[in-house]
Amino acid sequence: MPIERQDLLARVRESREQRSAGAGRRVRREVLRRDGARCEVSDGDGGTRNLLNFCGNDYLGLSQHFAVVNALQDAAARDGAGGVASHLVCGHHAAHGALEREVADWLQVPRALLLGSGFTANLAVMQALLGDEDVCVQDRLNHASLVDGARLAGCRLRRYPHADVEGALRQLRGAADGAAILATDGVFSMDGDVAPLRELAIAARVQRALLYVDDAHGVGVLGPEGRGSVAAAGLDVAAVPLRLVTLGKALGGHGALVAGDADLVGHLAEVARPYVYTTAPPPAQAAAALAAVKLARRDHWRRERLQELVQRFRARALSHGLQLLDSDTPIQPVLCGDNASALAMSEALEQAGYWVAAIRPPTVPEGQARLRITFSAAHEPALAEALADAVAQARDRVGHAASASV
Ligand SMILES: Cc1ncc(COP(=O)(O)O)c(C=O)c1O
Repeated sequence: MPIERQDLLARVRESREQRSAGAGRRVRREVLRRDGARCEVSDGDGGTRNLLNFCGNDYLGLSQHFAVVNALQDAAARDGAGGVASHLVCGHHAAHGALEREVADWLQVPRALLLGSGFTANLAVMQALLGDEDVCVQDRLNHASLVDGARLAGCRLRRYPHADVEGALRQLRGAADGAAILATDGVFSMDGDVAPLRELAIAARVQRALLYVDDAHGVGVLGPEGRGSVAAAGLDVAAVPLRLVTLGKALGGHGALVAGDADLVGHLAEVARPYVYTTAPPPAQAAAALAAVKLARRDHWRRERLQELVQRFRARALSHGLQLLDSDTPIQPVLCGDNASALAMSEALEQAGYWVAAIRPPTVPEGQARLRITFSAAHEPALAEALADAVAQARDRVGHAASASV
């Protein structure tokens, strides 16, 4: 019998060609040097460019803070470069425990658990808590890791239209058997808006579902002491028994914690496969994060600076007729429509000295390619207007439809 199997390599090549033809090819840029928002980046032709970065997630500007870097260096000198083993074998260091206790204290929850990344943490939560009999109800714009987590768990996955609490309720009512998690981003990573958490908490309570908030982009930025979108909504651990805190964004490092109810977190520490069967993060990484959390709690001026940048940018961008989304967080997307326009605008901005990434499908829905502009406390306030002017000039040069219909 002849073998009819598809050639995997040929399939991959074809799909890469299709992405190139549709301006959907993804390339990486090498950062050679970085000083706050200023960076030197390779231009892909053997040269370099000096750019002002407006597409990172270092919202509080902590990733190069001397106290954070010192903590990393000191701990690496003391404990070494690696975690050595998984947490349950012999990889759990005092630095991991100290970070977990500090984050639990900060967020006013009983317990927190450190994992290798936010992506891994979402897989861990879903896999450890849900099985085939259960259901996970999710906002349509949730991060990919929440969706993949539900797939890994093997549960039924139901999605509701973005921020539509009635839709969430309908999905929960329609799957009334088995246990349920209602999962949402706290701040939506590509849109910058905040989930209707108070209403979702009521829906979850009525339907006896567990509300899980992925606060990757909220912690550090929103709420009292930067405790995130859950605290900003006035919710506690009873309403939101579990939430995700990432260390790679406002806290300027790498890794993530799942924080909340002591039994749920304790259960994850014993059975979540993405936690149990992997090497513990380097203790130095945890020491750096501990220093960053202390700064995030204390330095209110960083959040105030972000608010100023956002307000100044929005006022100027709207005066230019740019199409913004309804966001008052440091994530300020400008819609461009098609992929080619988004790429051309990003390139025009680069010529002007600004690094702003074009985000295209499948990361965002078809026809909604955008510039994902992000602000950091490391930006000088006057840069907000300068950037808005540069985006408007890029739009005029490229001549596409990124104008507001306001
Ligand atoms: C909403 C959200 N959740 C989870 C993650 C994953 O976090 P990490 O980068 O730590 O893997 C991201 C990061 O892109 C995110 O935006």
